[in-house]
Amino acid sequence: MGRKIIGGRRLNEVALMLSLTLPWLLPSTQQAAGQVWTWDLLGNSSGIVAMHMALTHLDTVIIFDQTSSGSSGYPLPNLRPCPLAAASGTGCWAHSMEYDVASNSLRPLTLKTDTWCSSASFLSDGTLQQTGGYGTGNRRIRYLLPCSDHRCDWNQSATLLANRRWYATNQILPDSDGDRVFVVGGRKVFTYEFVPKSHSDEGAHDLPFLRQTNEASEKGNNLYPFIHLSSDGNLFIFANRDSILFDYHRGRVIRTYPRIPGGGARNYPSTGSSVLFPFDYADGFRRAEVMVCGGATAGAYRAARRRKFYPALSSCGRMEITDNDPQWEMEEMPGPRLMSDMILLPTSDILIINGASHGCAGWQKAINPVLTPYLYKPNDITGQRFTILPPSVIARMYHSAALLLADGRILIGGSNPYKKYNFSGDPYPTELRLEALTPYFMDNSFDDRRPLNVSIEINEYDGINYGKEFVVLYELQHSPSPAARTPPEFVVMLPPFVTHSLSMHQRMLKLECSRMEVVGGGTVRAVVRAPPSPVAAPAGFYMLTVVNGGIPSKAAWVRFIH
Ligand SMILES: *[C@@H]1O[C@H](CO)[C@@H](O)[C@H](O)[C@H]1NC(C)=O
Ligand SMILES: *[C@@H]1O[C@H](CO)[C@@H](O)[C@H](O)[C@H]1NC(C)=O
Ligand SMILES: *[C@@H]1O[C@H](CO)[C@@H](O)[C@H](O)[C@H]1NC(C)=O
Ligand SMILES: *[C@@H]1O[C@H](CO)[C@@H](O)[C@H](O)[C@H]1NC(C)=O
Repeated sequence: MGRKIIGGRRLNEVALMLSLTLPWLLPSTQQAAGQVWTWDLLGNSSGIVAMHMALTHLDTVIIFDQTSSGSSGYPLPNLRPCPLAAASGTGCWAHSMEYDVASNSLRPLTLKTDTWCSSASFLSDGTLQQTGGYGTGNRRIRYLLPCSDHRCDWNQSATLLANRRWYATNQILPDSDGDRVFVVGGRKVFTYEFVPKSHSDEGAHDLPFLRQTNEASEKGNNLYPFIHLSSDGNLFIFANRDSILFDYHRGRVIRTYPRIPGGGARNYPSTGSSVLFPFDYADGFRRAEVMVCGGATAGAYRAARRRKFYPALSSCGRMEITDNDPQWEMEEMPGPRLMSDMILLPTSDILIINGASHGCAGWQKAINPVLTPYLYKPNDITGQRFTILPPSVIARMYHSAALLLADGRILIGGSNPYKKYNFSGDPYPTELRLEALTPYFMDNSFDDRRPLNVSIEINEYDGINYGKEFVVLYELQHSPSPAARTPPEFVVMLPPFVTHSLSMHQRMLKLECSRMEVVGGGTVRAVVRAPPSPVAAPAGFYMLTVVNGGIPSKAAWVRFIH
């Protein structure tokens, strides 16, 4: 365990290696001295492929894959009777796990039907609401209410989705009269629907945009569309190369954005990734900007079936979706990349991790894993925003995932480009190892600047109301004089549901701090204002981080409620 990599030295080796083989992969900038990113192997087996992952507010990670892949790496000999979804051959196998971050341990969960390539969203009480999947699971709605006693498990609703949803995307809506989730798309399904429905005879609604962006000969190129809830309450929907602003109340497209340059396609199986930049109290949480990175070259799917693997797209596009004249601003990643995860960090930078450089998504349809994450600094000068970070040794290809933990590390799991589990698969076998990447800023050497022991003062209610002030307490090692230094940032992060390079409903906001005082013993008492409305921040649990001089604290959980 604890494989430390000194950024600078390793980076030079990598740069040398890459410059001999893949000249376009040269780093655009070097890591600054003392900025050490550390890879750790957390365990040799997560039992199942981490195809889908989500961090709950109790610091457990719910992991699941597909029951139709048969035997997994985690037998359940004592499960009697063996549910159909766990049965394979004569054995019974887990296809879902609860990973406890603090104890680094796993507990099997039980699924009743197949969750393969499905979608989910957190509800305001922290419940993970999952929808769809495959076969008899494709219209199912499942719930998992997280627990700290390690006794909770999946339940499956008797209510069904209106349509089959396999490769759909979910987004929690900012409705103030109860939780409602928008579920859109799926293979050969050009509709969206709400869960729950607004009235008993409501079904699915047509979305012609999905038909228009569908490339049948390429297996879609518009599956798992990117969805971002914009600051005006409308939904930004991106599929293939096109995007719209959608008013889900009236079922109307109210804006059509320019097509993203760069050719190819950005959605499954040409799987790129997308992120919504942090919202900021300084502009009233109004400015919304999205970024889309990577994807596959035109024709990549048909070529991969013939075992020809085209280089992935290396371009990223940024667009301010709230601008009067929105345009894509294009820039180049250090190399071609697809099937990557894009993760918002508390420093407001973006981590691009996992994936491959050639081919497209799907079984055995990509080669050349990209082992080096990229760090993207959105506010640096164009051309200097990307840094290549030290590599992992583990290929994270199709059906891998990564997410931010409350302690500031990135959890990475999965990869399985085969129909079943295949531990002899060549060259990218089924991967069950779990890793953590620790950003340099979480290293102990920065503890002198790090806000420690962050807590939130909560009185009789169990959440913070929109627009209300609340108190954040933390400690600094060196006698803090808050007035004299750059004020710290208070950021909140809605943990996403992650699958297929999509971080559904990932969202970050910078909150306003109205006053700060030192209350003795080095404790800082900061008064922070909650987001103004569920449009800015849909109700639910958020990770709150205090960032002091660029160094983030570990996160404390805070809940925003109506
Ligand atoms: C994983 O397996 C390797 C090789 O068998 C072993 O050396 C290592 O200690 C294991 N690591 C963990 C975290 O279990
Ligand atoms: C499943 O869990 C959800 C969320 O906790 C709950 O509302 C629902 O009643 C549960 N359903 C069943 C069948 O237990
Ligand atoms: C597992 O991988 C090996 C080598 O790539 C291949 O020959 C075999 O057919 C695969 N098995 C399955 C079940 O896909
Ligand atoms: C944080 O709190 C723990 C007890 O909860 C205490 O032992 C520790 O000293 C605190 N850290 C600092 C920097 O004050």
